[in-house]
Amino acid sequence: MLSVSNVHKAFGDNEVLKGVSFSVEKGDVVAILGSSGSGKTTLLRCLEFFEKADQGTIKIGETQADLHTASRQKIHELRQKTSFVFQNYNLFNNKNAIENVELGLTKGHGVSKVRAKEIARRSLEEVGLADRFDYYPSELSGGQQQRVAIARALAVEPEVIFFDEPTSALDPELVGEVLETISKLAKKGVTMVIVTHEMAFARDVATKAIYMDKGVIVEQGEAKELFTHPKEERTRQFLSRFLEGYDYVI
Ligand SMILES: Nc1ncnc2c1ncn2[C@@H]1O[C@H](COP(=O)(O)OP(=O)(O)O)[C@@H](O)[C@H]1O
Ligand SMILES: [Mg+2]
Repeated sequence: MLSVSNVHKAFGDNEVLKGVSFSVEKGDVVAILGSSGSGKTTLLRCLEFFEKADQGTIKIGETQADLHTASRQKIHELRQKTSFVFQNYNLFNNKNAIENVELGLTKGHGVSKVRAKEIARRSLEEVGLADRFDYYPSELSGGQQQRVAIARALAVEPEVIFFDEPTSALDPELVGEVLETISKLAKKGVTMVIVTHEMAFARDVATKAIYMDKGVIVEQGEAKELFTHPKEERTRQFLSRFLEGYDYVI
């Protein structure tokens, strides 16, 4: 459904991605794991064309593009099939929850205002915010703001949603509500690629896991397998550091 091949990206002489390839099937939840600085954010940003890769290809459904040379038309076409959830929510502060969700539909996808309102309501209900339609970001907790961002991502019915550390800006007590929202989407079969440091969540919710280090994929496979029987020593060390003392259980 999504296939990414041989992504390279350097900033100056800092080679951040050194040939990253992976694929995602419909309904997969792919957790991307790795220490800070390993290139996870850059990878997602390249796939969304926020950053221009030096080399690589992406294919979503039948639409394929070169990550370095894709035309604006091609980029637009691919973006119609994806959504992105940022670490810091990226909501418009002067728009309330429902307007934030509507905007993605009317501006990005040409949906009429009336229809957009209807879809936005449904999406906000889905993330548990039926009672917050007209609240502005400043009136919402971080967890609620991130759920608005998830509703916005969901509303356009993308083929895949990319998440870049969706809970790392949150106070610890608000992490659970966002992870639960994402788990619910996983159960409904929404295809997602999630960069996260929430290891227990990744282990319990992801179908596939990718462990990255220094711009390469060290290991990837079924999530359960990677977490219980990592093949590479580097993966083992990384996991043992993180799985101590986790406190999130689905
Ligand atoms: N816009 C940029 N300009 C220069 N260097 C960058 C830029 N974005 C990321 N980097 C560098 O790329 C490397 C990987 O960063 P990043 O993709 O953010 O890693 P991660 O998300 O895994 O923590 C880091 O060394 C970072 O400093
Ligand atoms: Mg990052």
